[in-house]
Amino acid sequence: MLIFVLITFSILTYYVVQKITEPPKELQNIPTVPFLKYFWAMISGKRQDEIQHILLETDSRKLGIVKIWNFINWVVYVSNVEYAKQIFLESADVLPKWSYKEGQPIKIYFGTGIALSNGEHWAKHRKIATTAFNKALYPEATGMCTLEFTKILDQCADTQTDIFKLIQLLTLQILGKLCLNSLEEKPVFLDTYRKIVKHVINPLFVLLPWLVSLPLKANVEHEMRVKEFDRFIYDIIKKRRIDLAEQKRAAIKIENRDLLAGMIEAAENEGYDIPDKEFRDDIIVFFLAAHDSSSSALCYSFYFLAKYPEIQRKARNEAIHVLGKDVVIPDSKQLKELKYITAIIKETLRLYPTLTVISPRIAAKKLKYGPYTLPKEQSLAVNL
Ligand code: HEM
Repeated sequence: MLIFVLITFSILTYYVVQKITEPPKELQNIPTVPFLKYFWAMISGKRQDEIQHILLETDSRKLGIVKIWNFINWVVYVSNVEYAKQIFLESADVLPKWSYKEGQPIKIYFGTGIALSNGEHWAKHRKIATTAFNKALYPEATGMCTLEFTKILDQCADTQTDIFKLIQLLTLQILGKLCLNSLEEKPVFLDTYRKIVKHVINPLFVLLPWLVSLPLKANVEHEMRVKEFDRFIYDIIKKRRIDLAEQKRAAIKIENRDLLAGMIEAAENEGYDIPDKEFRDDIIVFFLAAHDSSSSALCYSFYFLAKYPEIQRKARNEAIHVLGKDVVIPDSKQLKELKYITAIIKETLRLYPTLTVISPRIAAKKLKYGPYTLPKEQSLAVNL
């Protein structure tokens, strides 16, 4: 009897799993990434190049398109340049960003920040962010942090140092300066922020979001960190609003503002009434979008400079030619003259893109890429 029940249960489970994981018929001709291999690579924290290798092996015919079952749905990854171009040119109405469900840790933490939102909300925040970026991204701000950073590097000159950790510190300092005008030797929020992000992007929570509601020590600590970090951001938002109101009253014009002050000012000028929570979400998303991307790009650039001393020599000569022998902060004009150094950064990003896959989009209608037709509501992403 028991054997009969077990066999029936196994057959039923097999049938249900088959049914759930069966790709839509339109995707049948797209190569399938082996689920277990991919899933294991994701949860065991394999490096991006190792994950990319699995995708490359799957696409042995170099079609530039594969499909992946990610436990929730099928996602099509596109690397064919022509199809990718079509995707990037598609409007946000046709290919909106895939939304994380309510209750998922990423959604709870990052809320409606620019990189995760769509439609009117995205357009409004994108507009004020673009104005604010123009005011916040001035070379002196990043230059000051870089000078601090070179001092730290000098101190480590004779010891073996984890360069990635140092660069992460640098990028967070720069972000602190650009986003919130907070520049400290070791930003107070650095550790807290790192721990929060590690918790929310854990693939296990993406797949099994109910795990975050369990009364586990890790969850309780996470909640406390989020509260501490939020208090820190909300205090700054409050202060920026007061500063702006005072400057307005005193008719003081300020050329360069940090990103947050620039967004609050731009929102006022546009007549948008944006609550503190939405500014908080945007700032937190800026930290996410800018932090590891910039750190990895810088680290890989340093790696290549160390690997190819001749290229390092040419880069150094260019820096001395444009900036002179003294340590100075380059202005915008000088930055444009650093053509060889810019080319090194671009080539590094081409070889090791720090963001390998853009966030998935959802097809609002049936779409055609070469011989492939993707059904409405299909998830897809460009694999850079
Ligand atoms: C080497 C450094 C960087 C790389 C390679 C990079 C790459 C990218 C890519 C590929 C996207 C598109 C993602 C998608 O559409 O799914 C993106 C979006 C975004 N990035 Fe970056 N990024 C870098 C640095 C930064 C920095 C420094 C900031 C902010 C201070 C930033 C803020 C953003 C934001 C807000 C978005 C979302 C834009 C939107 O949805 O309209 N990124 N980034």
